[in-house]
Amino acid sequence: MKTRLIDLNDTELFVSGDPHAAWAHLRRESPVYWNDVGDGNGFWALTRYQDIADVYRDPAAFSSSQGTVMGGSYRSGADSASGRMLICSDPPEHRLLRQQLHQGFTPDMVRRVSACVTENVRAAVDRLLAAGGGDFATEVAPVLPAGLLRAVFDLDRDQIQHLLGVTRAMIGHRDPEWHNGRDETMTLVGTQVEILDLFAELIERRRREPGDDLVSLLLQSEINGRPMTESQILYNCLNVAVGGNETTPYTATAGVLALIEHPDQADRFARDAALLPTAVEEIFRWTSTNAYVQRTATRDVEIRGTLIGRGQSVTLWNASANRDEDQFPDAGRFDLARTPNQHIAFGIGAHRCIGMNPARAEITILFEHLRSLGVRFQLAGPIERLRSNFMLGIKHMPVTVTVTR
Ligand code: HEM
Repeated sequence: MKTRLIDLNDTELFVSGDPHAAWAHLRRESPVYWNDVGDGNGFWALTRYQDIADVYRDPAAFSSSQGTVMGGSYRSGADSASGRMLICSDPPEHRLLRQQLHQGFTPDMVRRVSACVTENVRAAVDRLLAAGGGDFATEVAPVLPAGLLRAVFDLDRDQIQHLLGVTRAMIGHRDPEWHNGRDETMTLVGTQVEILDLFAELIERRRREPGDDLVSLLLQSEINGRPMTESQILYNCLNVAVGGNETTPYTATAGVLALIEHPDQADRFARDAALLPTAVEEIFRWTSTNAYVQRTATRDVEIRGTLIGRGQSVTLWNASANRDEDQFPDAGRFDLARTPNQHIAFGIGAHRCIGMNPARAEITILFEHLRSLGVRFQLAGPIERLRSNFMLGIKHMPVTVTVTR
């Protein structure tokens, strides 16, 4: 494969190609790669674990304020989310916002999420077993974030379904399945407005009738002695909802696919309950749903002797770092007993995923339940991948199921 042929902005590579072959090539031949997109524009792509870790740990030189997704899923610096939404903030604003959000991400919150997710998983898996199979990606995986939304925002069933649909379209805005007659940009903008409207209404309701949900908590919190502004609350609810809704279902579906494709590991998992903790981490490493995050260079910086210009976009490919042979022996092997396993599916440093604990709980509950029932999956048709280079998602995965216990 020739380096110049690799375009990490081409969603075709992610829908029908094999991005792992492209990343492996870049790690070897061009670890600091200028991905030209024409007209003198482009972005840097880092694919080695150590380079990516170094950039994550240097927010002074590599800012998040211009947005962490190319094309603006978490809007760019020119707009109002910058400095107000956790994921698009730099120190010191980031630290102040994160302290407020942290109050909602407690062990008690993880317990409430776990209770809702357990109930949902049992019901969804029962339905799948009764039918002998179905589309795992649409019938089972989404019940994970549905449980989280109930526990964190205290939303009802209809609100949850609505929010799940809009966040899916927002993150999948490059995929025609969610266009509804609109183009990519209008899908992105329209869905963001819809999510913000939904949370604006929720804020009004919680002002009148506070509860013990995240919105009520943020309405009472203060930054430097001042209440959080409505826009800070809105943007951070959007950040939590989008961060929470899309990642875990795509991880769950890709995790089941990995078990189907590695029957030796599925057998091992079925036999040994003690594998669960390392199995969950290996599923996060292997699937790396959040393929990259973007930073913007605040000054000229050299990486491996290559000059990154001030203002240029630098993308950190977590999905590649998690298969880097220098960090993971036999990195291309799906190994449910892998240890140590310092994967960076959740990022590194100050922005490291705030939802990591509930995410771990969701994936653990699902795979433990499937294991305890002895559920085995077979593909019943072709899988369909999401047209996105940011979220490595499987949007349809027809399966049949058998129970071995
Ligand atoms: C498989 C599951 C998940 C993966 C792979 C994942 C991945 C990530 C990554 C890579 C980051 C770092 C972004 C950066 O450095 O710019 C991040 C941040 C974040 N995630 Fe997650 N995430 C997951 C689940 C969740 C869940 C369940 C929630 C909410 C309940 C969530 C909410 C957030 C938020 C709010 C941030 C921003 C944190 C900050 O900037 O300080 N994520 N996530």
